Amino acid sequence: MPHPGVLDLFYIILILLGRAHAISTRQVPIVQALAAQLRAIFYMHRRRFAPGDAMKARKIRDGVQWMGAVDWNRRLFDSLIPLPDGTSYNAYLVEGSMGTALIDSADPTMSEVLMRQLEEVNRVDFVVANHAEQDHSGTIPMVMERYPGARLVTTPKGKGMLVDLLMVPEDRIVAVEDGETISLGDRTLRFVHTPWVHWPETMVTYLEEERILFSCDFFGSHLATTDLYVTDEARVYEAAKRYYGEIMMPFRKIIRKNLEKVRELDIELIAPSHGPVYPEPSFILDAYDDWVSEEPKNLVVLPYISMHGSTEVMVKYLVSALAERGVRVEVFDLAVTDIGKLAIALVDAATIVVGTPTVHVGPHPVVFYAAHLANAIRPKLRYASIIGSYGWSSKAVEQIAGLIPNLDVEVLDPVMVRGYPREEDLGKLDVLADGIAERHKGLL
Ligand code: FEO
Repeated sequence: MPHPGVLDLFYIILILLGRAHAISTRQVPIVQALAAQLRAIFYMHRRRFAPGDAMKARKIRDGVQWMGAVDWNRRLFDSLIPLPDGTSYNAYLVEGSMGTALIDSADPTMSEVLMRQLEEVNRVDFVVANHAEQDHSGTIPMVMERYPGARLVTTPKGKGMLVDLLMVPEDRIVAVEDGETISLGDRTLRFVHTPWVHWPETMVTYLEEERILFSCDFFGSHLATTDLYVTDEARVYEAAKRYYGEIMMPFRKIIRKNLEKVRELDIELIAPSHGPVYPEPSFILDAYDDWVSEEPKNLVVLPYISMHGSTEVMVKYLVSALAERGVRVEVFDLAVTDIGKLAIALVDAATIVVGTPTVHVGPHPVVFYAAHLANAIRPKLRYASIIGSYGWSSKAVEQIAGLIPNLDVEVLDPVMVRGYPREEDLGKLDVLADGIAERHKGLL
């Protein structure tokens, strides 16, 4: 057997030639097939990791294993979303009497981990792609090369996306309709279309005999942990809510329909592709019911920036005034806050009050960014206002209002102050607090 480094180089050359040819012809060339065979041999023989470098596969049921990778050190997703607790990319192997399926794969940065786990698996007949995003699909091309007879199972929309994103040969993909099943002998996989959690092509896979729902992103949590199952419910609840707020919330109306579909299944375990498995599905199903409802809570979210202290004085005054009136407030200094914490609060909030100083006539640039994000994730807010300060003139209110067209909110009178706030300015904040408290009556 040649040295792995020589094989690596040879393999890379073949793949580059193959990919270039595939791009130009959209066909599988012979050179790519050769690369696939070489890759399979390569994986069977090399030992790149020292023992213990990667999590081993873990048994969930007879013939059902967790695979994939725990990414302890990742701190940012999509170059945007903070991951304070890392994440995981869960794949699952289901072995039936007549066939074997791998459900989802792993982020490309963790391909080696999954491929090592698969070294002992001689046969995979189906690779299921519940979702085409690369953190779950990124290792699929390597898996397909490792198992040349495997078919890739996904939704009709997923098929096009996997061809476009990963250049999987089209003739190896089986597009399944909603409710369609595939038999593995004594095991049956049922595919349930759940679009927009959080891409248009998404589905979940239900293992009928074991009553396990493989939900991919749906119900997921960015959490690196050795816990195969949820043990610390409070920790997982916050991570799952953060995940929902950042990623799923814009699609909450369609997610409500998907929840109804999922609830029709008799589920014993929910096995997502991020975070631990739910041994009590009602824990996360009930949480989602609450999060996707249109009923906000008695909560004001108050993100702000202050440059010389004027806006901060106003923020502190308003927080106290609201608290006196029985309104809960969560305050975020945007100069230091974790944007994910803001997303969590926006899942429940009835009102947002933005605090900003004026920079070159408009709001502070960090406020621009936060307002744009809040608009993008479409929380169920009902009311909004703006408070802050300026030196000589300001168009901060108009500019912020223009940034949030997706928010169907009643705008309460803003309070913008020239310089440091005086008594009469604080009085206007009392009026704002009164208005918010009045509108929050009846909210829990
Ligand atoms: Fe975890 Fe949408 O990918």
